Amino acid sequence: MKPRILVTRTLVDELLDELRRHFEVDDSQPRDGPHSADELRSRIADKDGVLLFADRVDAALLDAAPRLKAACNITVGYNNVDVAACTARGILVTNAPGVLDDTTADMTWALLLAAARRIAESDRWLRAGNWKGMKFSDRFGRDVHHATLGILGMGRIGRAVARRAVGFDMRVIYHNRTRLESALETEANARYVGMDELLAQSDFLSLHLPYTEANRNVIGAVELARMKPTAILVNASRGGLVDEPALIAALREGRVAGAALDVFDGEPTVNRGFLGLDNVVLAPHMGSATRATRLAMARLAIENLMEALAGGVPRCLVNPEALARRRG
Ligand code: DGY
Repeated sequence: MKPRILVTRTLVDELLDELRRHFEVDDSQPRDGPHSADELRSRIADKDGVLLFADRVDAALLDAAPRLKAACNITVGYNNVDVAACTARGILVTNAPGVLDDTTADMTWALLLAAARRIAESDRWLRAGNWKGMKFSDRFGRDVHHATLGILGMGRIGRAVARRAVGFDMRVIYHNRTRLESALETEANARYVGMDELLAQSDFLSLHLPYTEANRNVIGAVELARMKPTAILVNASRGGLVDEPALIAALREGRVAGAALDVFDGEPTVNRGFLGLDNVVLAPHMGSATRATRLAMARLAIENLMEALAGGVPRCLVNPEALARRRG
């Protein structure tokens, strides 16, 4: 009998056909968006594997999945999964790194430019019929060229963002848990600085850290107070990196000039405090949302799932400790 898998999002037919050649696939979707925790619990009960797209996997769900051997994320981030609980049960967890770096870096730039040049706010203003002709001192934004771009978290996506700054003649500084080797620094055209200098010098501060409990609210009231009042914060990583009430207060009081956010703490719920602010650009977690990239992410997740359920070691395994106790 083929292994049974659950696919928690609608995928394109060619991917489903590929999956059906190897697995018995359960891919029916709830009508109103992602599965509720109860739906997920009942549908995962007889499955050997699951393809996830930001679905929450916790100990309670795992307790309802006695056959589960592999939880494969279509995303690079895997903070949706309780990895320790999976490891304790011998369940392999994988992610999908690399294939979305350039697309997410492009989106970061779209956000940065939109906030700097007030694109979203001006679009709303124009549609509302406010434009009566060009004024000399109207719609002033901030120059991106020759400004200082600060990057917090200099992994693959952070470096892809840095490389794009060359065309804007920007000075790029970064802070990371560990300093990059010099070849990577040269390629990214970026200078390593301490956190205080990063906060104080950046005209644009872009976050590219993975989300962990240790990184929660890494940008909070204290950090915001150290930023330039003219600075713009960009976050296309994870919402929990920013203390949102502190950011809303800083934006409201003009202590930071603007923000551009693709991710939110507790999304899809968005703190209502952002909604009335014109100096923040909001997007619904769409950093990797191009067709080519989403297909590449799904293909990588499928490759990981096949390898895991065939008894091999998947390329993007995040918990190798689980191998020693994997389920037969
Ligand atoms: C990821 O892969 O973690 C992204 O946030 C999804 O777009």
